[in-house]
Order: sequence, then structure tokens, then C-alpha cells
Amino acid sequence: MTHVLVLNGPNLGRLGVREPEVYGSASLPDLVAAAQGWGTELGLDVDVRQTDDESEIVGWLHEAVDTRSHVVINPAAFTHYSYALRDAAAQVGTAGLLLVEVHLSNPAAREAFRQHSVVGPVATGTVAGFGFRSYRYALAAIADALAEGHQA
Ligand code: DQA
Repeated sequence: MTHVLVLNGPNLGRLGVREPEVYGSASLPDLVAAAQGWGTELGLDVDVRQTDDESEIVGWLHEAVDTRSHVVINPAAFTHYSYALRDAAAQVGTAGLLLVEVHLSNPAAREAFRQHSVVGPVATGTVAGFGFRSYRYALAAIADALAEGHQA
């Protein structure tokens, strides 16, 4: 089964507690369960991780390249300023793997600093604004690309 790393950046471990009016009342374990269920439906082996540590998420992107895994990533605040994460994400794309950037909220509709993503230009595509369903649509995009013959 195709392996997909679902990577989550800083403060996403606080889902359910952190600004529920923006990010919803469900928790990270709820997101893990939902993503694993969607993966099963879509024929993907989904591995969901979260870290507040930039070096750890960069290392996971290196792992994606080395293990030939596609990636769904919510870089959280790293989206807006982490060139280290962007450079690691770029390596996923140049390895011929899919990388979908996701956001729970729609950063384009929020504060000015959220309206720029340094990751977007090196992503295959971006899904934002649908809460947990952003992850579902990102996984479905990967499943569709594979069904259409994308070679990992
Ligand atoms: C977020 C949006 C980011 O601007 C923010 O820093 C996050 C979450 C989202 O999923 O909507 O932590 O990536």
C-alpha cells in the first residue's frame, strides 16, 4: 500500500484547546483517527505525526524522500517563514513525490502575515479552509494522482 506521511507543525498538538473558534473543538488524536480512516477508504497507508520542532519536521521530510513516501503537510506557523522547511519540502517534489500543503483555516482570509506561504511554491498543491476535511481532500488528491498513473 502507498505510504503517506501526514505531518503537522507547531501548536497543532493543541487542537481542541487552541482557538477552537478558528481550529475547531476536535483534538489531534481525533485528527489522527480521521486521517487513518480516510487513508483506509482511499487505499493509502497513512502515518500522522506532529511536532513543535523545526528540525524534526525537516528530518521527516528527508525521511519521505528516502522512503519514497508522499506527504500531506500542515506546516502551521512554519508555513510563513521557515526556509529550512521549504528547502526540505522542495526535495520531496524534485524526488518525484507528491506534497500537498494543508491548512485547517483559510490563511488567505486572515492576518497579513498568514497570507504568504514559503512552502506553497514547492508544493504540488494546497488545500485550505475546510477544517479536518482539508486533510481528506489532500489525501484524495494523492489517491487520484496515483490512480491516474503518477509514479512514486
Ligand atoms: C494553520 C494556519 C497557520 O497560519 C497557523 O500558524 C497554524 C495553523 C492552519 O491549519 O490553519 O498554526 O496552518
